[in-house]
Amino acid sequence: MARLKLGVLISGRGTNLQALIDAAADPAFPAEIALVLSNRGDAAGLVRAEAAGIPTAVVRHRDFADRPAFEDALNETLARAGVELVCLAGFMRLLTARFVDFWAGKAINIHPSILPAFPGLDTHRRAIDAGVRFAGATVHYLSAEMDAGPIILQAATPILPEDDPDSLAARVLEAEHVIYVRAVRWIAEGRVTITDGRTRIRDVGDAAAYALPAKSAAV
Ligand code: GRF
Repeated sequence: MARLKLGVLISGRGTNLQALIDAAADPAFPAEIALVLSNRGDAAGLVRAEAAGIPTAVVRHRDFADRPAFEDALNETLARAGVELVCLAGFMRLLTARFVDFWAGKAINIHPSILPAFPGLDTHRRAIDAGVRFAGATVHYLSAEMDAGPIILQAATPILPEDDPDSLAARVLEAEHVIYVRAVRWIAEGRVTITDGRTRIRDVGDAAAYALPAKSAAV
């Protein structure tokens, strides 16, 4: 069967991209990366893509007069590569409702918190400051509101007393890499449906798969 064509949008180091590259290296994985697209020419993730022989493109937001013009250029580039699912992986530009509507049900994001808690930036610092005991990550569909679309998969990891934002981010990141690959697999296998803002995952067998405890949760 044809593999689902992914367009991965990045702005930075690209460790989630790398997790997808590694997963898709297995021909049995039901998705392949058709394009890695960055809004910054210096994104380290572009080097990861090139090393894996994956086509890359840079569409610099600064080259466009406004967001719609920038997004039109993104869409042209994604369409030329035949992208079927957009995967945001550390893409640091806000996208307009027009872009989100165009890709409705065909664009996902990973965010390093258990949404709806702590959307936006600086999540780990805010979680530590709030004194919550668990952090984690969420893969969700895009919606016009940032970090708020239908949730596909989450993972939880403890916040330890000695954590600082960096140590917590590192623990959460391990979980991100697991759940992003798993969510993409489920979508590519056609298991995910969205009804009334909630997703259902068909036939994954194990209810626990909806919410993964990260490895280090066993404290
Ligand atoms: C990740 O923490 C992701 O959840 C957030 O941005 C970060 C990107 O990291 N949206 P990387 O570029 O994938 O290493």
